[in-house]
Amino acid sequence: MPFTANRQFKALPRLLVSAEGMHYTSHDGRRILDGIAGLWAVNAGHCRKPIVEAIQKQAERLDYATGFQMHSAGPFIAADKLVRIAPQGLDHVFFVNSGSEAVDTALKIALGYHRARGEGTRRVLIGRERGYHGVGFGGISVGGMGSNRKTFAGQLLPAVDHLPHTHSLEKNAHSRGQPQWGAELADDLERLIQLHDASNVAAVIVEPIAGSTGVLIPPKGYLERLRQICDRHGVLLVFDEVITGFGRTGSAFAAHTFGVTPDMITCAKALTNAAVPMGAVIVKRKIYDAFMQGPEDAIELYHGYTYSGHPLAAAAAAATLDLYEQERLFQRAAELAPYLEDAVHSLEGLPRVIDIRNFGLVAAIELEPIAGKTTTRAFEAFLRCYEKNVLVRTTGDTIALSPPLIIEKSQIDQLVETVGDVLKTLP
Ligand SMILES: Cc1ncc(COP(=O)(O)O)c(C=O)c1O
Repeated sequence: MPFTANRQFKALPRLLVSAEGMHYTSHDGRRILDGIAGLWAVNAGHCRKPIVEAIQKQAERLDYATGFQMHSAGPFIAADKLVRIAPQGLDHVFFVNSGSEAVDTALKIALGYHRARGEGTRRVLIGRERGYHGVGFGGISVGGMGSNRKTFAGQLLPAVDHLPHTHSLEKNAHSRGQPQWGAELADDLERLIQLHDASNVAAVIVEPIAGSTGVLIPPKGYLERLRQICDRHGVLLVFDEVITGFGRTGSAFAAHTFGVTPDMITCAKALTNAAVPMGAVIVKRKIYDAFMQGPEDAIELYHGYTYSGHPLAAAAAAATLDLYEQERLFQRAAELAPYLEDAVHSLEGLPRVIDIRNFGLVAAIELEPIAGKTTTRAFEAFLRCYEKNVLVRTTGDTIALSPPLIIEKSQIDQLVETVGDVLKTLP
């Protein structure tokens, strides 16, 4: 099982049998409030009819078509819809099947882009400590999670460096929204570019909000500064929006919310409301154009997957993007954000809580770790919330909340009250 204590789980399984809207039904017949949109993914709520029907219809009409030298219409329709909500200038899409594939694809596109322009020495990729970019060799190399890297040490991509992470309990604990301190941490990018020389640096990849390592909100001015430094040195900026995309921050992408436009966006998860696996890399036109050279019968990018632009995924994506628009769900997230902020910060002062942070429809409660047993306390909180019919997610010693954007205020109350009740009982 993925990222799971297999033996512990099999001794006491937690199985879900159905879902609808804001709720799962568990194997023992309980209705579980989904406080994490599946896994930062089911932004429109579960088993939404228009998406289900689009997938059903597509499965009957055309189950599969290769994207190698031919295709079906679905992926082009989905790409058009995706580009319409992407930041201006990002107007070409490469479809993949997951966030991990999106990241590895973006890194390869970055190298190919520079090479196509005659700057093939630009090979260095810069990620960030505490970054999560999936589990491909590219993703774990630019990623900054020790536990995901240690087993593979020595076999990661060679030309990689890392920015420092932006999380500081000392300076920013209990911030509402973007923390005040930390824009200057972006200046380390200037240092790394000097170290490697700009002529060797291809791209920088960051999550606008780091999710899997505990919901790390970018300090005010930080992303802007990364953009300026990349521009100064001809380095591509990639935003990994696998969790921040599709309304999580109150706009289509975090790039909109923070007012910083990257050169590429990686996305997945809520692209199809997680109903069919799909990811995408959205690129600026200059990147697409750089590849469109040479003989017209030559393949421009030697990369792709059997399931790139799979018809079922494309149908799910098109229906999902329509639903987001019809129900104005990104706007709804922006409107609900202050309510979630107030609710979650009402937990300040409860035992073991060392930080509470939030942005858009994401919130995190960081707990003091048990000495020598990091993650144990938060995992216990997860188990106790689940017993109380609420699904939360834990990363390290942080409880993360990222509900579907259709959540009602009364359900935010239930979610936060349950977490509060559990915090009062934790060891
Ligand atoms: C920012 C980010 N990038 C990449 C991934 C990997 O996505 P997947 O699990 O679909 O491969 C994730 C997954 O949570 C993520 O949060």
